[in-house]
Amino acid sequence: MNPTIALSALALAALAVVLPAARRRLQLSAAKHPSLTGHSRMAKRVAAQVPGYSYDETRFFNSDGAPADVVAQRRVGLQQLAELFRARFPRSTGLTAETADGLSDLQFTASYRVPFQYSRYLREQIRMPAFVAGSSGVQMTDLDGNDFLDLTGSYGVNVFGVDFYKQCIAEGSARAAALGPVLGAYLPCVADNVKRLRAISGLDEVSFHMSGTEAVMQAVRLSRYHTRRSHLVRFCGAYHGWWDDVQPGPGNPARPEATYTLKEMDEATLRVLRSRQDIACVLVNPLQSLHPNQGAPGDSSLMTSRQGAGFDRAAYTAWLQQLRQVCTERGIVLIFDEVFMGFRLAPGGAQEFFGVKADLVTYGKTLGGGLPVGVVCGRKDLMKRFREDRPADLCFARGTFNAHPYVMAAMQVFLERLDSAEVRAIYDGQDARWDARAAQFNQRLAAAGLPLQVAHLQSVWTVCYTQPGRYHWLLQYYLRAQGLALSWIGTGRLIFSLNYSDADFETALQRFVAAGCAMKADGWWWQDATLTDKSIKRGILRELLAHRF
Ligand SMILES: Cc1ncc(COP(=O)(O)O)c(C=O)c1O
Repeated sequence: MNPTIALSALALAALAVVLPAARRRLQLSAAKHPSLTGHSRMAKRVAAQVPGYSYDETRFFNSDGAPADVVAQRRVGLQQLAELFRARFPRSTGLTAETADGLSDLQFTASYRVPFQYSRYLREQIRMPAFVAGSSGVQMTDLDGNDFLDLTGSYGVNVFGVDFYKQCIAEGSARAAALGPVLGAYLPCVADNVKRLRAISGLDEVSFHMSGTEAVMQAVRLSRYHTRRSHLVRFCGAYHGWWDDVQPGPGNPARPEATYTLKEMDEATLRVLRSRQDIACVLVNPLQSLHPNQGAPGDSSLMTSRQGAGFDRAAYTAWLQQLRQVCTERGIVLIFDEVFMGFRLAPGGAQEFFGVKADLVTYGKTLGGGLPVGVVCGRKDLMKRFREDRPADLCFARGTFNAHPYVMAAMQVFLERLDSAEVRAIYDGQDARWDARAAQFNQRLAAAGLPLQVAHLQSVWTVCYTQPGRYHWLLQYYLRAQGLALSWIGTGRLIFSLNYSDADFETALQRFVAAGCAMKADGWWWQDATLTDKSIKRGILRELLAHRF
């Protein structure tokens, strides 16, 4: 053969291999969200370079360049707030201080409640109490006898109110008492739970695990096993527990190699799903519909305004339908991770609420009736953990405490109650109820002249800050002083239990407005024309560089 022709043929053959690969690589890049959240590796590299530094007393109060009279106001405000905490919460804060040294988690949450620059000085002045003694209705009681309205929602576990779960645990414990903590063999209620979960999920089989994280691990493992493909797709900003493969960015020292983090609600992502051969599954966390492509809005990074994307049910439903279609076409396993949202939006969870069916669904949190749990429900062919024709080719998933009798019994009580007319009635008109409450909340915040609004997905709310400011994170302390308890991530996530009556809600609203007014009066929301999100970000970048070099 003519050597030129041979070479050309070789070049063409090489191009035929390289070009599709290059196209797929470009498609992948196009499906990444432009933010750092969308670029896990880059985010990790950047995070590793952020120098640690703390503001001294002067800078703590004037980091936004406020004039002297406002700074003086702030000093008095913080002093009074600190005195209130000392006087009102002595036991709760005392035990918190005493325990922090030996409790790693407490050190972490205490340090990351607010932006790190302010954290040290603030902790010297005010310690947020981490201990509580009791709960009832929509309230929690601390060690000093103070009552707080609970807006923590126990990380999402508390859907129906604490008393509901106390009853699940008490009744469940009574049902499990004769067997006690015997593991391996099942308490009969497991059979009932399986039946009920199959009906709720509309899926064929169920497996029990010990946490939401474990349920997600198993759902992904099964997907990889059955598809023989390597990669999982998670969406930018979505939380799926703390397992390595679903947390490829900052916070995880490992380097997950088989995770794609893609843009949610974007055609570019669908193109990737249509063209790649290595995708085993797509993980969807329906909570992201409140803020697609953004991470959980915690106060620890809150130094500019926070805008709420807002929830668009029709748009998110259309997105899930598109995902469903492409996953079916490509043999990709569609996993709804309902660990957080399951049973909050509807008795049948996000599948029912959005009217889209998944191949595997993970549940957890509230399903344990107040006890720790993770559950996978799935299609028969996907749930199978062994192959008849290759008996040594297994997908192993066992855990000592899986299907623990006390957890299973509390779950059974939970599921029975979920089926009752009384609980079903709670779901009636939920959308309208929470829309009206959020609208009322926003109206009252605006009427009080506060730079605050809320975005919501029914009973899960995010506080948004409508003006630039460096001190928004302080609001959680003013809220605590007014008798509202938030989880450590602060105002990014308020979780109402569904037993909030209109009167409870009105009290929460009044306290919220009072806290906002106190914070405003203390000068923390001072503003002038030079204080913009851009100028704040630039200022912080300058500080970072100055401390780095
Ligand atoms: C959507 C989602 N998946 C998984 C998890 C992990 O669950 P767990 O904390 O029980 O491990 C969480 C926890 O917040 C979650 O919100």
